[in-house]
Amino acid sequence: MKQDGFSSKLGFVLAAAGSAVGLGNIWRFPYLTAKYGGGIFLLTYVILVLTFGYALLISENAIGRMTGKSPIGAFRDLCAGKKSFLGSVRIGGWVNSVVPMIILPYYCVIGGWVTKYVVALAVNPVSNFHKDAVVNGQSASAAYFVDFISNPADSTIYFIAFVIITALVVACGVEKGIERFNKILMPMLVLLIIGICVYCMFLPNAEAGFKYYLKPDVSKFSYMTVVAAMGQLFFSLSIAMGIMITYGTYMREKDDLVSSVNHVELFDTGVSFLAGMMIIPAVVAFGGEKAAESAGPGLIFITMPQVFASFPGGSIFGVLFFILVLFAAATSAVSLMETNVHTISQELKISRKKAITCVLGEVFAIGVITVLGYSVLKNIKPLFFISKYQNMDILDTLDFISNSVLMPIGAIFTTVLVVAVIGLEKFSEHIKSDKPWYREYIYQLCMSIVVIPCLLVVLLNATGILN
Ligand code: TRP
Repeated sequence: MKQDGFSSKLGFVLAAAGSAVGLGNIWRFPYLTAKYGGGIFLLTYVILVLTFGYALLISENAIGRMTGKSPIGAFRDLCAGKKSFLGSVRIGGWVNSVVPMIILPYYCVIGGWVTKYVVALAVNPVSNFHKDAVVNGQSASAAYFVDFISNPADSTIYFIAFVIITALVVACGVEKGIERFNKILMPMLVLLIIGICVYCMFLPNAEAGFKYYLKPDVSKFSYMTVVAAMGQLFFSLSIAMGIMITYGTYMREKDDLVSSVNHVELFDTGVSFLAGMMIIPAVVAFGGEKAAESAGPGLIFITMPQVFASFPGGSIFGVLFFILVLFAAATSAVSLMETNVHTISQELKISRKKAITCVLGEVFAIGVITVLGYSVLKNIKPLFFISKYQNMDILDTLDFISNSVLMPIGAIFTTVLVVAVIGLEKFSEHIKSDKPWYREYIYQLCMSIVVIPCLLVVLLNATGILN
């Protein structure tokens, strides 16, 4: 049965872009770019988005539009009646559905950090975060961040606060209301980011930072650049986790899938690019390239307050910035939670209420362990048995397993589904439905010979088998 469709193509684009734009663009993209060499990462990322990302984004939406089912059902239907290998492709639906369950708990942990920073910048004088302020030999801003995440009570409280906000929205079923807010707040966030970018251009020494961000340095390229860029692409476009299949079900046969997907791709990548432009030159200006290369998940929490401390009235902009980021994060968390609730209630055939309870239980359990991974459980390194990853903390491990391991596997299943089960020609016809499609050639090339070998290399490398 088809669900209620979006009232217009714009409705689809806004919903898909709303779920795509979130912490992935503002928190994750800049720190990965800084860490993996700036320009070379940016270039790798853009190339991958235009080829891989595009092919998968289109495929998932078309699978949804074709079947009108959520991922597990879509894979099951399309594989029905197929024998042996092709029949087993239906497991792909499950892989796609497990990923958001792993992501949601740590997404909420970062959401908690954002919530903390709204409060932190509202109650502390912003000068406490000035780049020249030093505490115990490190910058005051970094010291503040480390103090916060290593304080078990404080960090747990903010995590819980964020989960409660998210759960309330899902439980009351008021996503529609939230989306209306989104239409005002998202453009505001983008405008604010652009404003901050312009300001950062005039920071002393910003030039070196822009060079670091925009000029690819080939000597910094490694397998890890591709592994990280690929993981980021999955995370940021919300692909390989069933979300886009679900959104595809809302599309009507006559809606132009190709141009809608182009908009989502462009918008999401644009926001990531701007977020990088806002943060990376500032990090380099304040601490040099070394500071950029040693960046981790704390980057926006350490650098942005320093930016706000560097101009008069900065604290107002700081609070506003983190409130808007909080909104972007909350809307994504709501849609992640909604997906998990939907999968669980359908597959276990339980009521929505019970499903919400299950999801919350899971989020609390894994989320609290993740939060405590920076304090009480600091010595727990889940991947200690792989030498390359022996120092990875719990949050990074969850992030790594979902983005660099499970999502490539999910994407391989989607590709096999399209190419072998449905048939690429037939699928392409369905996608374009008589309209001209100038990237069809790239699409077919990617799906038929590029995607799977590359994903396999990424996977083998990521799991430590290659190398
Ligand atoms: N793409 C979102 C971001 O950039 C994160 C995300 C991943 C997401 N999977 C999702 C959001 C599913 C909504 C639904 O932050």
